Amino acid sequence: MMEQVSVIGLGPMGRAIAMAFLAAGHPTTVWNRTADKADELLKRGATWAGSPLAALDAGTLTAVCVIDADAIDAILDQAISESGQHTLPARTLVNLTSEGPARTRELAARVEKLGLPYLDGSIMTPAAAIGTDATRVLYSGPADLFDRHRQVLGALGGVAVHLGADPGRAASFDVALLNLFWSSITGLMHSFALAARHQVPATALAPHARQMAQLVADLLPGLAANIDNGSFSGAGSSSLTSIAASLEHIVHALDEARVPATVMRSAKDVVDSAVAAGHGGDSPARLAEFLGRDRSEEHLRSPVAGSGSGPRAS
Ligand SMILES: NC(=O)c1ccc[n+]([C@@H]2O[C@H](COP(=O)([O-])OP(=O)(O)OC[C@H]3O[C@@H](n4cnc5c(N)ncnc54)[C@H](OP(=O)(O)O)[C@@H]3O)[C@@H](O)[C@H]2O)c1
Repeated sequence: MMEQVSVIGLGPMGRAIAMAFLAAGHPTTVWNRTADKADELLKRGATWAGSPLAALDAGTLTAVCVIDADAIDAILDQAISESGQHTLPARTLVNLTSEGPARTRELAARVEKLGLPYLDGSIMTPAAAIGTDATRVLYSGPADLFDRHRQVLGALGGVAVHLGADPGRAASFDVALLNLFWSSITGLMHSFALAARHQVPATALAPHARQMAQLVADLLPGLAANIDNGSFSGAGSSSLTSIAASLEHIVHALDEARVPATVMRSAKDVVDSAVAAGHGGDSPARLAEFLGRDRSEEHLRSPVAGSGSGPRAS
């Protein structure tokens, strides 16, 4: 007998998750605030739950994948008011919704108080990858819970990594990795826009852009090791003073081409601030340490505070 599962939330990702469970042969119950998003899944053999409480009650495990933690709170409120009790059926809730670490911990505490074992998951791949080898999901929460449901969660395909007992740990990885992803994508779009202003089509730039992205990937392990070891010397690599000059020229080129330079100007602000704080001879690894300093008080005064950066010419 395949384990019975439920999926709450049928956006593109929730639908892909439900489809993967069905494809793996799990009897799958689904619920979504807007019912018609379940139509295709029902044709493929899913069961409509009728309510969040019915969905929670139907499976040994419920995967919830909605827009944010507030939506999960609203769904839990609905289930509680339906049950008329202060606890919910003690089925495992696997939250596959992206959220910040603090908000995730708060939600985990609420869910556990309601009597549901809680596992958090951050999906690092697009909906189209779910059910294939390309899937990558980072989990955190009780290890025994992960082990208990590992096989069922395997229906999502690819790699499942358990990062530890703290329910917010997967979200900590998620926000850091999404920061990398979206700053890379926005940087790439700026590059395409700048190239286009010089009549360079995106497809002509693409192979060279790919090599630059590969260079970042190649540099990554060494930079990470240097950050963790506290090795910041710029001797033998690019120093921050040299990088600041390079960024100045890129900002100038963006301005000249009338492409908004706000993103690169912010990057340059950070490098200038680190140089002004005495780190001009250091490698880019220093920026991670510099940005990560506790600025709880200085933050009130300046966006890149505690840096000693003076007023900036516009
Ligand atoms: N799509 C991807 O490729 C991808 C990749 C990685 C991670 N993720 C993560 O997966 C999660 C879901 O993403 P998604 O792309 O499927 O769609 P989404 O647009 O982020 O979320 C849509 C889902 O949230 C529900 N929802 C929104 N507000 C609600 C509320 N107040 N009460 C109840 N339900 C509410 C929607 O219900 P209705 O249908 O009724 O509006 C729908 O089921 C997100 O956290 C996203 O970051 C997505």
